[in-house]
Amino acid sequence: IHTQEESKKKSIKDILPKEERWTNDFDLYRYQDFWFPNCFLEGVILAQEQFKPQPTEIAICSYPKTGSAWLKALCFAISTRNRFGHDLLTTKSNHPLVTKVPHECIPFLEVDLAYGIYNKDPQLPLFATHIPYDSLPKSIIESGCKVIYICRDPKDTFVSLWHALIKFPSTGERKQQFCFKKEFERFCEGKSIYGPFWNHVLGFWKASLENSERVLFLKYEDMKKDTSFYIKRLAEFMNQPFSKEEEDEGLPEKIMEFCSFGNMSGLEVNKAGKHYSVIDNSIYFRKGEVGDWKSHLTKEMAETMDGIAEEKFGTCGLRF
Ligand code: A3P
Repeated sequence: IHTQEESKKKSIKDILPKEERWTNDFDLYRYQDFWFPNCFLEGVILAQEQFKPQPTEIAICSYPKTGSAWLKALCFAISTRNRFGHDLLTTKSNHPLVTKVPHECIPFLEVDLAYGIYNKDPQLPLFATHIPYDSLPKSIIESGCKVIYICRDPKDTFVSLWHALIKFPSTGERKQQFCFKKEFERFCEGKSIYGPFWNHVLGFWKASLENSERVLFLKYEDMKKDTSFYIKRLAEFMNQPFSKEEEDEGLPEKIMEFCSFGNMSGLEVNKAGKHYSVIDNSIYFRKGEVGDWKSHLTKEMAETMDGIAEEKFGTCGLRF
């Protein structure tokens, strides 16, 4: 017997355009002009219907594989630095980022809602989501919550996504084999998880141009180049700027080191742990480099992606 809610969601899926993917979990549904995976669509709709954030909460937003875990780790470390103490920012401590993957330190809006485990820590003004800007729950925009978005060169994003997808566990039966070229074409066409990637990025980019006080737009590549600068920028944006004493103590650099790929990928929890009981945390820590696409894409593939990026982003002043 279906509850009313279940029937409603079932009927929504019945009428949405659908792309069959390798398992039922990852079949994509076109909802509000984006392709949402079956396993999270319900969470997206629940978030739109029910989520009521406090105005002081900050949304950490991203397209998958653009550095979400890194951004979550940085925001969590900055936001909780007084609660957990600066001394805990070491690999051998019991800081939450040492015992849990970053995705577990901050509630994951549509994913946790889809699985009925959204658990808000009243002391932590952060939540994360992959929902595109125009589909964010209206309550987030209306309450004036700040938004932090990370994006990444499309070529590295696609290569990272490919490696994650082939490793991702699924409860559904496997229906298709993976084909790198086919996945590439789908990504370019916009038929990728939470895609089109291009429109995902543009939504947040335009919002940041319209209201830079409320929407902070970051690039993975810039953050890799000058992490310490962006840590201070994040702290200011989050209304928790570093004091002179904290700067003298080298706290921004301590957070940078603690959240670095080298440190985080070497933590036991991220090497051998799992979250949501089934996902190997190691999936989130592959290489953490800029330009790894060079080892995976042909010259033609790279040119195709650069061409689309120029066409979609060029006129808006966004370049990678
Ligand atoms: P690669 O697959 O190119 O290595 P997300 O967190 O959005 O899933 O993004 C995953 C990408 O971020 C992966 O890229 C991963 O290695 C990289 N990453 C994870 N932790 C990082 C860190 N602390 N610093 C920089 N990059 C990191």
